[in-house]
Amino acid sequence: MFSLVIVSSLLAVSANADFFQFESISNVSTYYFNYLYCNIWEGDCQPHQDDATQQVPTGDIWSGFPQYYTGILTAWYCSVGQCCDSGDCRITNNITGLERDLQLKLHGQHLAQSVVLKAIQGFIKNPESNKPLTLSFHGWSGTGKNFVARIVADNLYRDGIKSECVRLFIAPFHFPHARLVDVYKGQLREAIRDMVLRCPQTLFIFDEAEKLHPGLIDAIKPYMDHYDNVDGVSYRRAIFLFLSNIGGGAINEVALDFWHSGQNREDIGMEDLEHLLRAEAMEAEGGFAQSELMSGHLIDFFVPFLPLEYRHVKLCAHDAYAARGLQPDEGTLDEVAKAMLYVPKEEKLFSAQGCKSIPQRINFFLP
Ligand SMILES: *[C@@H]1O[C@H](CO)[C@@H](O)[C@H](O)[C@H]1NC(C)=O
Ligand SMILES: *[C@@H]1O[C@H](CO)[C@@H](O)[C@H](O)[C@H]1NC(C)=O
Repeated sequence: MFSLVIVSSLLAVSANADFFQFESISNVSTYYFNYLYCNIWEGDCQPHQDDATQQVPTGDIWSGFPQYYTGILTAWYCSVGQCCDSGDCRITNNITGLERDLQLKLHGQHLAQSVVLKAIQGFIKNPESNKPLTLSFHGWSGTGKNFVARIVADNLYRDGIKSECVRLFIAPFHFPHARLVDVYKGQLREAIRDMVLRCPQTLFIFDEAEKLHPGLIDAIKPYMDHYDNVDGVSYRRAIFLFLSNIGGGAINEVALDFWHSGQNREDIGMEDLEHLLRAEAMEAEGGFAQSELMSGHLIDFFVPFLPLEYRHVKLCAHDAYAARGLQPDEGTLDEVAKAMLYVPKEEKLFSAQGCKSIPQRINFFLP
């Protein structure tokens, strides 16, 4: 009981200190943040629109904690019944659920469906793997990169994206100022270390990774490499997801070529895209692309997200209505899909925004 009291007061102090630190560093308007979190990381804030900022794992309340305390906390955690016979209650690793969700909820992404499932399944079933799992999602906005990251979080962790084993970084929000890159480096390293100490199978998601400063990538690269441990901590059970639009143009061109030549979109294979993505990634501007992460073979899987067509947008709209308990007719779905912009100019084949904000958009079409 005694240790419990100490722990909670430590927590309060630490949380405050960290709040100030974080506040002073990335002073981005709440509006921008809410926009990103609610609209891009769709759905998560809908029941609590007002306190969306509260749910985001912004500062890490554990930063600066000596490992000693973490040990006490782990013991405390188990003593209050959070350790299951099966291991860690926070971790569900539901591969069946992952497969199901990828099949039923994700539209138009046969490659992402199979690659993500294979990668995660292989990693979970092989606890002896000698490095963390690192996936890089590529594609236009609205094609489902964030959505798949959420599906992964929902099936691997009891509390999904809000789990204390999941940490989301939105590059322009968390690391907005190039001049502060050295400060961010320290913070990021510490955050990764603290997370993994608390939860070895931590999922790190880097959204808008194309905007990550090269220095930041270099700072975290050691955690993704084949080391047994870094400073006494093993990162081998961690999962890193990088979401970027790098290579989106190349993916779209391949998809368009297939369409022009009358081939099925579903016949696009990884062999048609993987080398392109690597090449694009090396050529693109910016840190993530040019980092050693790409050239050093630390990315285990490149996952391409194809541009979405009219029929896929309809499926997304259908899901959005269904999520509200509504059964829309074809006409309504067509109306929603028609309201999106399609490109290229001539073919009007792909939704420029993919399925982005469809749940918000259907508000305009509700009866
Ligand atoms: C931070 O945000 C506040 C409130 O929007 C503003 O008044 C202040 O000038 C900002 N500070 C910096 C350093 O941008
Ligand atoms: C895994 O997911 C499936 C499908 O969502 C669900 O029916 C099942 O109960 C889940 N299993 C566990 C152990 O949570």
